[in-house]
Amino acid sequence: MVENGNRFFEKCWSGKSSLHHFVGQHAVPIDFIRGLRHRIRSCPTFIASNYPNMTYTIQIRNSNQSFPVEEGESILDAALRHGISLPYACRNGVCGACKGKCISGEIEYPSPELLVALPQAERDEGFALFCQGRACSDLEIEADIVDENAQKPEKLPARVVKLEQLAHDVMRLYLKLPAGKRLPFLAGQYIDILLSDGRRRSFSIANPPHDDEFIELHIRHVPGGRFSDFLFSEMKEGAILRIEAPFGQFHFREGSERPMIFMAGGTGFAPIKGVIEHILAEGVTLPMHFYWGVRAKRDLYLHDMAQAWADEHPFFNYIPVLSDPMEEDQWQGRTGFVHEAILEDFTSFSEHDVYACGPPVMIHSGQQAFLDRGLPEDRFFCDPFEYAADNPAKES
Ligand SMILES: Cc1cc2nc3c(=O)[nH]c(=O)nc-3n(C[C@H](O)[C@H](O)[C@H](O)COP(=O)(O)OP(=O)(O)OC[C@H]3O[C@@H](n4cnc5c(N)ncnc54)[C@H](O)[C@@H]3O)c2cc1C
Ligand code: FES
Repeated sequence: MVENGNRFFEKCWSGKSSLHHFVGQHAVPIDFIRGLRHRIRSCPTFIASNYPNMTYTIQIRNSNQSFPVEEGESILDAALRHGISLPYACRNGVCGACKGKCISGEIEYPSPELLVALPQAERDEGFALFCQGRACSDLEIEADIVDENAQKPEKLPARVVKLEQLAHDVMRLYLKLPAGKRLPFLAGQYIDILLSDGRRRSFSIANPPHDDEFIELHIRHVPGGRFSDFLFSEMKEGAILRIEAPFGQFHFREGSERPMIFMAGGTGFAPIKGVIEHILAEGVTLPMHFYWGVRAKRDLYLHDMAQAWADEHPFFNYIPVLSDPMEEDQWQGRTGFVHEAILEDFTSFSEHDVYACGPPVMIHSGQQAFLDRGLPEDRFFCDPFEYAADNPAKES
């Protein structure tokens, strides 16, 4: 946003210690510019692209980590760009995973109406959503550091090499990066597809990292959806997309010795597939229970693959659950909501790791119920497929 717009100012260093900007031919002290910016910001016709491109420093409390953030960049994006992984999931202001405290300094939000996960009362107490918040000054924040050496997301071109319709409303998309380029990622992470109008859409990677010739995505058609409508009606093999990746903290936790429960809803199957194929290839033989919740039999779009995991591995249990079976399905298996099927089968989750992906309502209902039955909070790993109202804060 800021990078693309007209700029009033060009940045330069003047002397060793004081930052100045050029306004026309005149060097202006930075404090003056900051004061001016705050006044411009309160003006209803404020246009972000007209700001000087300034940099602030974010200090993470109780750590020796700090990182610079550019004007207009979210605090989370800046952290990721520097390989510091703060907690997050949707990057849309909806899930609340990135919530932390702002101890000092000033944060603003480009789209306050999109702060679904930050009620005003919490804002008043100093909480902030780092996936949406922009720094207006140097900041000290309170947040957990999940990974100090996280893979930095990269923007890349990707060619659509194959489109395969897996179900009436699910398309499998294989993407290929330029020659010699592979995407380093963890099983279960996701990519952003950058749309030509500047919007983004997130999709989970369905292949495991060891099988990385292509990036495999499973995309459900949302009628009227900006990207999925285009995918189902117009996209052709050979098309070039722009992506940014990898993102996400939904991935297999190496080293755990606990039995695993996987809960997928619809195309939430995609990242779970990536994780399961990864751990099976690693030779993990811990008990695994995979529950796949869909409406009707036709939505179990890779049922044979899941059944084969169970047939080939005695420690692997596959339970498809239909919430709305059709008459022709002649379904004899489990029915109802997928998280309820899991609750019927387990009285306690205190000894398990739970991985969940798919519709937010499924994730949140399941999470609460599992925590109530003894699942420690830090053993519930999830990616809710939040769809945001189009979010200018995420424009590329
Ligand atoms: C981390 C993450 C990973 C994701 N991974 C996947 C994936 O692997 N596969 C996949 O299919 N999707 C996935 N999604 C969802 C995906 O990013 C898009 O939100 C979805 O494809 C809709 O995009 P669209 O442009 O077609 O529709 P939009 O233009 O975003 O939607 C148009 C309208 O349709 C409605 N709408 C949008 N989505 C839904 C929905 N799911 N249910 C009901 N109404 C809806 C809303 O009212 C919206 O305003 C993921 C989301 C996140 C955050
Ligand atoms: S990551 Fe910020 S609200 Fe979801």
